[in-house]
Amino acid sequence: MNAISSHHQVQPSTGGTKLLRRLAWIFVFLLALYFFFKYATHYFVVNERNYGPYWQHWGALLLHIVGGTFALLLGPLQFWAGLRQRFPRFHRITGRLYFAGIVLGSAGSLYLSTHSKVSQAFGVALFALTLVWLISSAMALVAILRRQVTTHKEWVTRSYVLTFAFVTGRLLLDSPFLRGMANPKDRMVTIIWLCWTIPLFITEIILQWRRSASIASNSRQRELGATNWDRSAA
Ligand code: HEM
Repeated sequence: MNAISSHHQVQPSTGGTKLLRRLAWIFVFLLALYFFFKYATHYFVVNERNYGPYWQHWGALLLHIVGGTFALLLGPLQFWAGLRQRFPRFHRITGRLYFAGIVLGSAGSLYLSTHSKVSQAFGVALFALTLVWLISSAMALVAILRRQVTTHKEWVTRSYVLTFAFVTGRLLLDSPFLRGMANPKDRMVTIIWLCWTIPLFITEIILQWRRSASIASNSRQRELGATNWDRSAA
């Protein structure tokens, strides 16, 4: 194993798994694009009518949306293995833009969450999401600066699951989910908490599952190698 990879290596995917993964990423990208057009594009034309209750803080919201858009739409490209291998420079440039987007997006949402007109509980929920979004993205950056590729991939996955909370949250808000709650503000706060904690927990299960499967397979290969060596030495 070379110095660039970490202590364990993920097993190579088969053709079927690769195709499934590619289709899943195309779906994720199209969903992100749909919600971006539905909820974000009108803010690019700055006027009081388009900004409504956010008019007083239009600068912070625009900064948040510009940064968030970079992260949301560039994210899926970062997971495209073929593109990464064929054009590593492109991957590095779009990766930097992804992180820059998160820094700008978080600066805007730190401000917005502390000035939210919905409720204090809503502000706290979005403030917490911003911190987790920023810190997990910083972890991904630190890992790649230390040349820990597997750790970097895991943190970028967590970071994108958090970026995608923009979509997951609106998907839940648009659905009949928890519509029976007496107070609509309670529903919004609950959805903000659920839209990232549950996806992040599911992501963690998948990441840890893959990690333990690859450790088990590496140690099986080591045992096999040792047995073959014993046989040839005998
Ligand atoms: C996942 C991290 C994110 C956090 C913590 C976050 C936080 C916030 C906050 C605090 C607000 C103001 C809410 C209010 O007080 O009413 C807001 C609104 C908004 N955010 Fe984000 N956001 C995130 C991701 C994104 C992304 C990736 C986009 C993509 C463009 C985005 C687009 C918007 C839009 C369009 C609004 C205006 C509200 C609306 O019209 O739905 N956000 N966000």
